[in-house]
Amino acid sequence: MYYPEELIRQIREKSDIVNVISRYVSLTRKGRNYFGLCPFHGEKTPSFSVNPAEQFYHCFGCGVGGNVFTFLQNMENISFVEAVQQLAEEAHIPLPEMELSPKEKARIARRERMYEANRDAARFFYVQLVKSPYGAAAREYLAGRQVSEAYLKKFGLGYAPISRDALSRYLMSKGYEPELLRAACLMGGDASRVYDRFFNRVMFPIFDIRGRVIAFGGRVIGKGEPKYLNSSDTELFNKRKNLYAMNLAKKSRRKQALMVEGYMDVFSLHQAGFDNAVASLGTALTPEQALLLKRYFEEVCLVYDSDTAGTNAARRAIPILEDAGLRVRVMRVPGAKDPDEFIKANGAQAFEELIEKAMDPVDFELAISDTHTLEGQIETMKKMRDRLMRIQDDGERELHIRDVAARLGISQETLAKQVEEERRNFGTQEYRQARQVMIRGNRNTHTDGLEQTQVQLLALLLQYPDSRTQLFSQVSPTDFPEKTPEKEGKESEENIFRRAAQYIFDKRQERIVSADLISLARDEEEQKKLTRIVTEELPKTREELEKLAVETIRRLRQVALDEQLRGARQAEELQQIIQQKKQLEKLEIHL
Ligand code: UTP
Ligand code: MN
Repeated sequence: MYYPEELIRQIREKSDIVNVISRYVSLTRKGRNYFGLCPFHGEKTPSFSVNPAEQFYHCFGCGVGGNVFTFLQNMENISFVEAVQQLAEEAHIPLPEMELSPKEKARIARRERMYEANRDAARFFYVQLVKSPYGAAAREYLAGRQVSEAYLKKFGLGYAPISRDALSRYLMSKGYEPELLRAACLMGGDASRVYDRFFNRVMFPIFDIRGRVIAFGGRVIGKGEPKYLNSSDTELFNKRKNLYAMNLAKKSRRKQALMVEGYMDVFSLHQAGFDNAVASLGTALTPEQALLLKRYFEEVCLVYDSDTAGTNAARRAIPILEDAGLRVRVMRVPGAKDPDEFIKANGAQAFEELIEKAMDPVDFELAISDTHTLEGQIETMKKMRDRLMRIQDDGERELHIRDVAARLGISQETLAKQVEEERRNFGTQEYRQARQVMIRGNRNTHTDGLEQTQVQLLALLLQYPDSRTQLFSQVSPTDFPEKTPEKEGKESEENIFRRAAQYIFDKRQERIVSADLISLARDEEEQKKLTRIVTEELPKTREELEKLAVETIRRLRQVALDEQLRGARQAEELQQIIQQKKQLEKLEIHL
């Protein structure tokens, strides 16, 4: 941590966690806490809770937890420092020039450099396309696809020349390290020979949500394999977390996003006035992408090809989008293979009409099902139960049940009963799963029991400031193990619980807000451990608390003394330790 603790606390206090998390998750108040669907794992029943008094969040399902900074870190894929800076800016709290660790400095500088390399590459491709004589074939190709100059510029399209090392040579001449260019997925080869990752392709820069170039997609001109070549994941680019053209679509005034399959579809939709079109990047739609869409849209219309692959992709995408809290519609593009071709043939107005006619998921499922044979009907009924069960609104669900029953030729009552049963099972199953994760998680991480001992003692120290003087007279922060036990193939690390103990010790009797304790974490693992302290449930009666204090302190001291025994060299020293061990047996604590 390189900003002063007091400053971090100020920023955290000004950045209400409920307020910040609400931008990503819809929260409902229940008692003192807020609940919502966990943005870090797929779930249908809310097990994600936010505690406004203590300013932390915790998911009972997957076990994540932390404070407002760690939330942003994980949500936006940024560092702790970046999260602090973002919230400080929002809260209008000026930050001092920060003393960065050399490691952090190097990391930030490297990322900056990689952004620059990508931007320079995009410019290079653009110039090749627009100005160079070698770009003629590409210009012709794009003209054939009716790409307008304005949109070509807006999307920053380019051309990767046919020579196999033009970009690499250009970027290296500008001083970029070969290693960086390889890591950025712009260059291949080794020290003896370099070559461009992309050559003789029309280039589509991929921008992140803030409009920085982070990757590329390249299409062959004419025929060739692969048709589209995309950047692999890099330090800047995670294809599961980004959507093509989201940087533009987020500014759309429409409440509905159009989710299409390809770069060219996105392009021609935007050019035709549909500035809400995006595409996933050579992968099936992910929960992360669904959450990204949810930040800017209420509804998503899936515009996938009508072939089997497209239909299956749509079926898989629907629950992912719904889980993110989005309404879903599915469009079928008749006749033409994809939206690009349809618009070229029929115009934007005709496409607008298709959007209006897009089906809701129930109708879509029915439309692609066989409802004419008995077998098909049974199969369809099963699928429909699954689909109908997901409709949250009672009235809406009933209307759909009526409709589906009529179309399958079964009674409304029968179908309704089955759907209700499914809903009940589903609820409990979800619940059971969440609990299992919880229990399993606990068992895995508590294997040696010593961690749980530390968690309990620290929770006690945290929640009962008045007990600290007494407890710390029996146990000191240095009784907490210095290192974590070694895991297979892993070196042991500094024990965050010892640091937490020292932190609480230094605060004397002062009340500590849980979120500030979590601020001690330097990585995700530490954050999880600190969250365990703040979420630990302690017994309620004084007697039980005293018993817990005795047991945990005894255990910790024993381990610490055993450790000392191992290092003891002199008889006198040994005597003393054994004496202390004996005294431990008699330990009493009165809170
Ligand atoms: P399509 O083959 O349907 O291409 O792939 P398209 O978008 O219609 O492309 P044009 O119109 O021929 O130019 C759909 C999407 O699947 C991904 C790309 O994102 C593409 O836009 N894809 C396809 C690849 O990543 N690699 C491939 O080799 C092919
Ligand atoms: Mn196409």
